[in-house]
Amino acid sequence: MRSVLVTGAAGGIGSHTARLLHARGWLVGCYDRDAVGAKELASSLGAGAIGGRLDVTADDEWQAALAEVSTAAGGGLHALVNNAGILASGLLVEMPMLDHERQVAINLLGVITGARAAHPLLAATPGSVLVNVASASPVHGQPGLATYAATKAAVRSLTEALSLEWQGQVRVVDVLPMWVRTPLLAGAGGNAQLRHLGVRLTPDQVAAAIVRAVETPDRLKGPHRYVGGQARFFSLATRLAPPTVSRTVVRLLAHR
Ligand code: NAI
Repeated sequence: MRSVLVTGAAGGIGSHTARLLHARGWLVGCYDRDAVGAKELASSLGAGAIGGRLDVTADDEWQAALAEVSTAAGGGLHALVNNAGILASGLLVEMPMLDHERQVAINLLGVITGARAAHPLLAATPGSVLVNVASASPVHGQPGLATYAATKAAVRSLTEALSLEWQGQVRVVDVLPMWVRTPLLAGAGGNAQLRHLGVRLTPDQVAAAIVRAVETPDRLKGPHRYVGGQARFFSLATRLAPPTVSRTVVRLLAHR
C-alpha cells in the first residue's frame, strides 16, 4: 500500500491534504504537535489512517512517527509532505526574538530534520517523493514578514538542492501558494500585503496541488509548483521585470 506521512495534519492545509490522499487510497500518517487533533482526524478517516504527535523540531519524534507509518504500511515510505509551519508578522526589530527563532526552528529546521530522518525510508522505496510546502511570498523579500519569507525562501532553495542530491532516489518538489484561508492567517495580523492582495485560495485547492505534486512526476516543470494565478503571476513578473520594478511593487504592496 502507498504510504504518506503528513506533518501539521491537525488543521488547515495539512488536514485537507491528509483527507484527500486517504480518499485516493493512500495509507496516511496524520501527525502534528497537536496530538489530539491529529488522532481525531485519523480516527475520523478510519481504516488506512493513523495519527499522533510529531513536533517537527524533535528528531526522536520523527523517528517514532516514521516507524509507525512504515510498519503500518508493511515497510518503506512512499511520500513525506513537510507541511507544518507557523507565521508571525511585524517589523523585524519590534518582534520578540523568540518569534524569529520559532519560525526558523519550525519552518526551516523542521523541514531539514524531517528530510534527514525520512531519507533512509524514502530512498529504499521506489518512486518515492518529498513535498515541501513553502510559499510564493519569497518571490521577493517581504517587509512585515521578513523572517517568515526568509524561512520559505530557504525551503525553496533546500528543495532545489535536494532535488539534485537525491536525483534518481527520491523526487523532491515544493508547493508555493500565496495567501490561503486557514487559521495561520491569525498570525498575519494587519499585514499590508495580505490586505492588498486578499485571500484567493482555499485549503482544499492547495491540498489538490500537493496531491498532484505527490502523484504526478513532471520533469519539465522542475522542482517548483506555484499554486493559483496570483502566485504564477508574481513568479513570472519578478523574473521578467527589472529589479527596481519588483522592488517598487513589493514596497507599494507593503505600504499601509
Ligand atoms: P495552519 O496554522 O492552519 O496549520 C498548521 C498546522 O501545523 C497546525 O495544525 C499546527 O498545529 C501545526 N504545527 C505548527 N507547529 C508545528 C510543529 N512544530 N510540529 C508539528 N506541527 C506543527 O497553517 P496552514 O495555513 O495550513 O499552513 C500549512 C503550511 O502552508 C505552512 O508551512 C505554511 O507556512 C504554508 N503556507 C500557508 C499559507 C497561508 O496563507 N495559509 C500560504 C503559503 C504557505
